[in-house]
Amino acid sequence: MEKILLKDIDKVNLNNINVYAESGGYETLKKVLNMNPETIIEEIKKSKLVGRGGAAFPTGLKWEFVRKEKDAPKFLICNADEGEPGTFKDRILLRNNPHLLLEAMLIAGYAIGANKGIIYIRGEYFAEIEKLKRAIEEAKIKGYLAKDILGANFSYGIEIHCGAGAYVCGEETSLLESLEGARGCSREKPPFPTHSGFMGKPTLINNVETLCNVPAILKNGGDWYSKIGSPNSPGTKLFCLCGHINKPGVYELPMGITLGELIEKYGGGVKGEFKAALPGGVSSSLLTDLDVQLDYKNVTNAGSMLGSGSIIVINKETSVVSAMENCLEFFTHESCGLCVPCREGTKRAKEMLTRIASGKGQKKDLDALLELSEVMPDTARCGLGQAAMNAASSAIKLFKEEFQNLRNNSV
Ligand SMILES: Cc1cc2nc3c(=O)[nH]c(=O)nc-3n(C[C@H](O)[C@H](O)[C@H](O)COP(=O)(O)O)c2cc1C
Ligand code: SF4
Repeated sequence: MEKILLKDIDKVNLNNINVYAESGGYETLKKVLNMNPETIIEEIKKSKLVGRGGAAFPTGLKWEFVRKEKDAPKFLICNADEGEPGTFKDRILLRNNPHLLLEAMLIAGYAIGANKGIIYIRGEYFAEIEKLKRAIEEAKIKGYLAKDILGANFSYGIEIHCGAGAYVCGEETSLLESLEGARGCSREKPPFPTHSGFMGKPTLINNVETLCNVPAILKNGGDWYSKIGSPNSPGTKLFCLCGHINKPGVYELPMGITLGELIEKYGGGVKGEFKAALPGGVSSSLLTDLDVQLDYKNVTNAGSMLGSGSIIVINKETSVVSAMENCLEFFTHESCGLCVPCREGTKRAKEMLTRIASGKGQKKDLDALLELSEVMPDTARCGLGQAAMNAASSAIKLFKEEFQNLRNNSV
C-alpha cells in the first residue's frame, strides 16, 4: 500500500528543509499560490477528507466556513495537543517531518485567508518543539514564512504555543481559552470557532494529521484521495496500536482495514487472548468484533467511535472493571470542574468502580453507573464529560458478569 503521511519518514534528516525539498517538498505550495482559494477548497471537499483529531468533521466544509467569514484577521490553529490516552501519531509527523506540517499550514492559511498560524503543542513534546522551531527558522530563511511569499500577494507567519499538560485543552474551545491566557475550560458552542474563535475572530482549527494530508491531496487531486481506502471516509489513517499487542506502534493503513487484520497482520497478534479493544482511546466504547472495518462510519455503526485512531487492545487476563476504574481515574483527574455532571459524575463513577473492583460494590452502584452513562452525554458541557462514560457503560453491557462481584450478590 502506498503511504501518504509516512511516505518519506525513514529518510535521514527529513526535518532538514533541503532534504524535504529533494522529496518534492514545498512544490505543492508553489503550485497552490497560483490557484484560486475557492478552487483549493473544492479539491479538499472532493477528497472527502474528515478531521483526524476525533470529531471527523469534513475538512473542506470547515475551511469554506472560515473562508466565507467577512471578519478579519482570520487565524489557523494546528491542534498538536495529542492528549487522548493511547494516541501518539502526531508526534511522529512533528518530529520527523515538520516541514510537511508547515507546508500544509501555509496552504490552509492561503485558502482560508489567514496570515497567521499557531501550533498549539503538548508541552511535554520537547524534541518535537525543538524540531518545529528549527523548521520554522529554515522556512523563514527560504522565504516561505515571509511577506509576499514567492512573489504572491500572501504573507504568513507561524508561532508555537506550548500547552501546560491538560487533556481538556485539546478540546478546541478550551484550547482557545488557554491560548488567550485564560484557564483551560470549554466555551459554549455556538458560536463555533470558524465564526468566533481566537480573540473572537474566524479561526480554523485542524489536527496535525488532518493538515498533513493536504499537500498530497493538492498535488494529486481530490478525486485521487477519495478513491483510497473506504468510500465512507477515504484516505489512509495513522492507527496507534497499543495495549496487549506484540508489536505496538503507529501504522499508516487505508481506512476500512478490519480490526482483526490490523492486530494480526501488523501488530503481530495479541499478547495472550483477545478480549476487547477501545478503537478511539479511552473516550470510546469497547469493541469485541474483530471483523469491524476501521473507518468512521463502520466503527460508529458498531456502537463505538474511531476518534483519533488509538486502538487499545485488552487481553482476557485483564479485569475489565479495573481497566474501567483506570479510565475513570483519568477523567476525574482531567475534568476541568466547570460543570457538575462531569466534575461530580467522573468522581462518583471512579469511586463506584473501585468498590466493585474490590468486591465491596452494591447493586445500587451498578445502577448508578448505568444512570450516569445515560445522563452525562446529555448534560456535560464539553466532549470530555460527554464521552467519559462510553467505555465503562459498554463494559457493563459486554462483560456484565465481571461487574457482579458485589457484596450482596444481588444483581
Ligand atoms: C476532551 C477532548 C480532547 C481533545 N483533544 C484533541 C487533541 O489532543 N488533538 C486534536 O487534534 N483534537 C482533539 N480534540 C478534538 C478537537 O476539539 C477538534 O475537534 C479538532 O482539533 C479539530 O480538528 P480536525 O477537524 O482536524 O479533527 C479533543 C476533543 C475533546 C472533546
Ligand atoms: S464536561 Fe468536564 S471538562 Fe467539559 S466543561 Fe464540564 S467539567 Fe469541564
